[in-house]
Amino acid sequence: MAEAIKETVSNLIGKLSGSAVEAPREPSTEEFQSLQKKYTDAGQGHVFAFAEELPTAEKSQLFHQLSNFDPTRINELANIALNPPKTEETTSTVEPLPESATASIIDSDAADLKKWFDSGLKEVADNNVAVVLMAGGQGTRLGSSAPKGCFDIGLLSQKSLFQLQAERIQKLQELAQKTHGVQSAVIPWYVMTSGPTRKPTEEFFEKSKYFGLDKNNVFIFEQGVLPCISNDGKILLESKGKAAVAPDGNGGIYQGLVTSGAREDMRKRGIKHIHIFGVDNCLVKVADPIFIGFSAAKDVDIATKVVRKRDAAESVGLIVQKNGKPDVVEYSEIDKETSEAKDPKQPDVLKFRAANIVNHYYSFRFLESIETWAHKLPHHVARKKIPCVNPENGEAVKPAKPNGIKLEQFIFDVFPLTPLNKFASIEVRREDEFSPLKNARGTGEDDPDTSRADILKQGQRWIEAAGGVVITDGEAFGVEVSPLISYAGENLDFLAGREIKAPAILEREE
Ligand code: UTP
Repeated sequence: MAEAIKETVSNLIGKLSGSAVEAPREPSTEEFQSLQKKYTDAGQGHVFAFAEELPTAEKSQLFHQLSNFDPTRINELANIALNPPKTEETTSTVEPLPESATASIIDSDAADLKKWFDSGLKEVADNNVAVVLMAGGQGTRLGSSAPKGCFDIGLLSQKSLFQLQAERIQKLQELAQKTHGVQSAVIPWYVMTSGPTRKPTEEFFEKSKYFGLDKNNVFIFEQGVLPCISNDGKILLESKGKAAVAPDGNGGIYQGLVTSGAREDMRKRGIKHIHIFGVDNCLVKVADPIFIGFSAAKDVDIATKVVRKRDAAESVGLIVQKNGKPDVVEYSEIDKETSEAKDPKQPDVLKFRAANIVNHYYSFRFLESIETWAHKLPHHVARKKIPCVNPENGEAVKPAKPNGIKLEQFIFDVFPLTPLNKFASIEVRREDEFSPLKNARGTGEDDPDTSRADILKQGQRWIEAAGGVVITDGEAFGVEVSPLISYAGENLDFLAGREIKAPAILEREE
């Protein structure tokens, strides 16, 4: 095990320093035959249909690709996914999380917020906090060929989502250093990519010189993949020498942290608290001290940030307790009456209002136990049109309707495995912390224009709160405040009484 970890870590370093990728080792005839037998015995022998006509290097690649999977296990997963076992109709009880497990930035005591912020910043100063970014998605709805994190949402600075996050890390490190008089506060950044996003992400970070961060504290790793399966349970071939594969979903994060050596690196650094979130939220408060301080004070294994559901009809997943366990219920899983129910203690707000924004805290202690529960996480089915070759005649197939499935794990499926008293949630302001980039420009919802507008409006609010005056005119609104100037609205007093004509940009002078 230790050897395996060492190997993946050095592999990681090799990839980061841009070393050449070696040609795959050629397997012996016995090795090849033994793998072929394994697949044939499992009824998946067709993946070798063209092996004998492949050039040696491609044949070796096919061998190595298929060696990564256990065909019997793939059959089991495919079988459960395609023929889900009929479960007895049981009534499940869904309730909001208990009050003891929740807090809200909106109505928390200012003293509590300060206490959490101060203790969270101290954890940063003590080098106990790490950040894990999930950037393995293919961003199909956005439709950009580059990874989402490289996307320029149209800010005056033309900063990408990756750069905004990097600068928030940088600023928070500086704040921790200054406040606690330490020489170096480091928030290591673990960036989970996938087969399709790894190389362009690495190249983008290299080209951008890691946005000013020390590259020794940035770890780009790759989540796992699973074969794509036809509607009748067969592994699909992308080409004659390659099985069709797809990233294993954002729940692949758990296995990915282990196999990449990222968790081992956290262990060596003495990390205690981990903030994990998706790449597409331009407002994400990376390593937010309030969130870290809150979660640490509650001594939980998992905590999650939520925003208030806009109205009963908004289609978002909700953080709840289901049959006494923390869980996420999709909007389609609850009836109209439940979604419209009011909170008996605050009749002007919904009872079920805690919208999941894929923004989570984990204790390192909990990530130490991944091996004991990761295998229990279910695989969900996504029916897709998957281009492939026909194993009978080698002809390319471009399906017009879904011809197969991709298997995905979800990050939140671990929630029900966590005791209620080790789980917490904190409500944050949507306008300050959540604006996801999901759709292509022009959609009008969760697209580059809404992302850009939300950053500009936030900057304007910060400046006005500091006593500055922003002069707006129709479409001309907002101020882009560089994260290097202010992490969350602090440090802007120098603008009191000053007038700024929108749209404007406030950048730190080098
Ligand atoms: P989404 O489910 O919104 O997927 O991912 P996406 O790739 O961004 O967009 P679509 O659905 O293809 O249009 C939510 C978060 O989970 C990450 C994404 O990068 C995003 O941050 N993710 C998703 C992964 O890291 N790996 C995956 O396999 C899937």
